[in-house]
Amino acid sequence: MPETDHRARHVAIIMDGNGRWAKKRHLPRVAGHRAGVEAVRKIVRAAGDLGLEALTLYAFSSENWKRPEEEVSDLMGLMKRFIVSDIDEFAANDVRLKIVGNWRALAPDVVALIEDALARTAGNKRTTLAVALNYGAQDEIVRAARAAAGEGAITAEAIEAHLDTADLPPLDLLIRTSGEVRLSNFLLWQAAYAELYFTDRLWPDFTPADLAAALDQFARRERRFGGL
Ligand code: IPE
Ligand code: IPE
Ligand code: MG
Repeated sequence: MPETDHRARHVAIIMDGNGRWAKKRHLPRVAGHRAGVEAVRKIVRAAGDLGLEALTLYAFSSENWKRPEEEVSDLMGLMKRFIVSDIDEFAANDVRLKIVGNWRALAPDVVALIEDALARTAGNKRTTLAVALNYGAQDEIVRAARAAAGEGAITAEAIEAHLDTADLPPLDLLIRTSGEVRLSNFLLWQAAYAELYFTDRLWPDFTPADLAAALDQFARRERRFGGL
């Protein structure tokens, strides 16, 4: 029986289009990233109300280091400020923070902030906000395969158990904003049977209503997982 009328447990978003949002307004790219952080705040608040158990947001890819030094440093600065200023709200709203990707390789001050935020929200249960930082799916799969090999046979189950997302529900829906139709090295393994949703909306313009619309469409899609 095809599965229909389901609710999403785990949604992931490739938050793209900050630069174009700023360009349209003749603003520097960093203004687009700042507006992007505001969109993140609203979407995180909405995620719990929409019943999501997990929301994974692509914030900085392992390929984003190719950007000019100034933009990389603006993005890291915004990330730090976001973690510091929003941690109390996470605590109040029962949001558990999680970081996926190679975050331990980031600057020591960022690592320290993250460790503190993880510890302070570890007991929260309502929603997990997983932020992908210095994340690349190919790197994640290589790390997981190495860990699996260290324990014995390399099977799909063993690799999956070592992915950064191992403690999250299966990925149901993967959203990308800004009209680009590619995965850009995000959650390649987890997307195997996820539903994909592409919207032209630029990330700073993406609202909780847009997320609700994506979830409505998801609920009406027929998932088959290879069966009939
Ligand atoms: C997404 O917006 C944010 C990050 C990748 C960090 P972009 O900065 O990629 O915006 P565009 O694609 O240039 O519009
Ligand atoms: C993907 O967006 C990464 C994030 C949203 C963090 P990019 O803007 O880096 O992707 P490409 O370069 O257009 O594929
Ligand atoms: Mg982009």
